[in-house]
Amino acid sequence: MSKLIAPSVLAADFANLQRDVEMINRSEADWFHIDIMDGVFVPNISFGMPVLRDIVKHATKTIDCHLMIVDPDRYVETFAQLGCNILTVHYEACTHLHRTLQLIKSHGMKAGVALNPHTSIDLLKDVIQDIDMVCLMSVNPGFGGQSFIENTYDKVTRLKEMITAKGCVTLIEIDGGVTDKNARQLVDAGADVLVAGSYVFKSANQEVTIKSLRSLANS
Ligand code: DX5
Ligand code: ZN
Repeated sequence: MSKLIAPSVLAADFANLQRDVEMINRSEADWFHIDIMDGVFVPNISFGMPVLRDIVKHATKTIDCHLMIVDPDRYVETFAQLGCNILTVHYEACTHLHRTLQLIKSHGMKAGVALNPHTSIDLLKDVIQDIDMVCLMSVNPGFGGQSFIENTYDKVTRLKEMITAKGCVTLIEIDGGVTDKNARQLVDAGADVLVAGSYVFKSANQEVTIKSLRSLANS
């Protein structure tokens, strides 16, 4: 399977959101990565349902929604109705993770689990077969534009081994500080999906940046 690029809309220009969504549509990007933050689970508030609704109205690609919120079960149905295709919840925010994953799937979405940088991948050993995608946070969640945490390579390698050993098809997504400097090494370690916010949106030619990141990941 091709390695996928998911630009993070968090780094877009919100005053020109339709323009930036259409740029992603035109580009070689595979998914839209949408970061929802509640100001409780993480020390930042991004945007909520009305903005997501308008993004989905214009987006023509898979909607990969990353919830950085407490008690995500309360909103699973709403995110399904809004058109999310993949819904990722944080391990650290779910007391009954298995139940949450079943709830997400019962609403027709793929179920993702995100791990903070300090959270061990070993904690997923008994539930990995129920997870469609693991999102390894390579920065502390809450903000775009942070530096990549190097320990992530080792986590990807060990997670990939776990997935292979269990015979699962779970995807590995990397979120935070992804650039042309680490993309290749992440893919070599076993990553399937690379999220990139600042690296794409702060570049001079965003479509070209997406194209070259995708080629690098698939070279
Ligand atoms: C951080 C978010 C990321 C963020 C990535 O909490 O989950 O998706 O937008 O941004 P960059 O690529 O700038 O680190
Ligand atoms: Zn994210």
